Amino acid sequence: MCYHICSPITKENEPQPKNIKDKKMTDTATQPVTQKAAKAENIIAIASGKGGVGKTWFAITLSHIFARSGRRVLLFDGDIGLANVDVQLGLTPKRDLSSVFSGQSTMADAITRYDAGNFDILAGRSGSTSLSAIPQERLKAVGDALVNLAGNYDYVIIDLGAGIEQNVQYLTSLASKCVVVINDEPTSLTDAYAFIKLCVTKPHMPDVHIVVNSAASQKEGEKTYAALTRACTNFLNITPPCLGIIRKDNKVKDSIRSQQSLITKAPHTTAASDAAAISIKLLKHDE
Ligand SMILES: Nc1ncnc2c1ncn2[C@@H]1O[C@H](COP(=O)(O)OP(=O)(O)O)[C@@H](O)[C@H]1O
Ligand SMILES: [Mg+2]
Repeated sequence: MCYHICSPITKENEPQPKNIKDKKMTDTATQPVTQKAAKAENIIAIASGKGGVGKTWFAITLSHIFARSGRRVLLFDGDIGLANVDVQLGLTPKRDLSSVFSGQSTMADAITRYDAGNFDILAGRSGSTSLSAIPQERLKAVGDALVNLAGNYDYVIIDLGAGIEQNVQYLTSLASKCVVVINDEPTSLTDAYAFIKLCVTKPHMPDVHIVVNSAASQKEGEKTYAALTRACTNFLNITPPCLGIIRKDNKVKDSIRSQQSLITKAPHTTAASDAAAISIKLLKHDE
């Protein structure tokens, strides 16, 4: 099935935006932490375990497609220190999360509008403190603020960094859903398995869904998904559902090189259609 996404996907038979409660935002990023950050139902974390599998690209593409379908979207760059949402989109944010972590600005003040995509971004800063170096109380305060901010949006997408360290786990725990992006490399499968194992064995972790990226074909993608789920079913006793397969597409690299979202640059290309099908599944899931 091929979805055309150059126009908004808000047709009669497609999921419509929910009414958002007119929730007043209170910024807690600079206030002392008194309790563990709660989850928000509309936060989706994009994970992988291994780096370089297409998390950031997928997080941007998903945000852009959601925004095109009329949803209010915030994309949070959780790869603190190696942040690259802004780089992939050619943005130079005036403020970013580093000023929030240092207490110089509030979360709301650090938001950058990505006009071409019609969604908001909380950018990280490449070369700033790494996520693992941020004190847990500070990260919790930002997590609380993000959950609060989520009340102003239909979706908050967190682009996680690679790895499974504690602060990555913490950001994951803010989400109600986690999309684990994999490809056919053995290290992608082993790292994704390690990440999923954490999600099923630790409390407060979100539901896991799988996206196979850069697949040579739909069939090859299905084989990659089967290889991962065999291990999950045998050793973890769970079979995370597959949201879809995104085929390898040179237009992805072209769009990143030109620092534009794929949905702007080539909305009808294979990878864009595959990502749109996944987005529609997620929207339907939330109806
Ligand atoms: N579907 C795809 N087809 C071709 N190349 C892809 C695809 N998805 C991602 N890539 C390439 O993978 C590389 C890594 O993507 P990125 O989003 O930065 O990964 P991560 O955030 O997981 O480290 C990029 O150079 C991008 O061009
Ligand atoms: Mg990334």
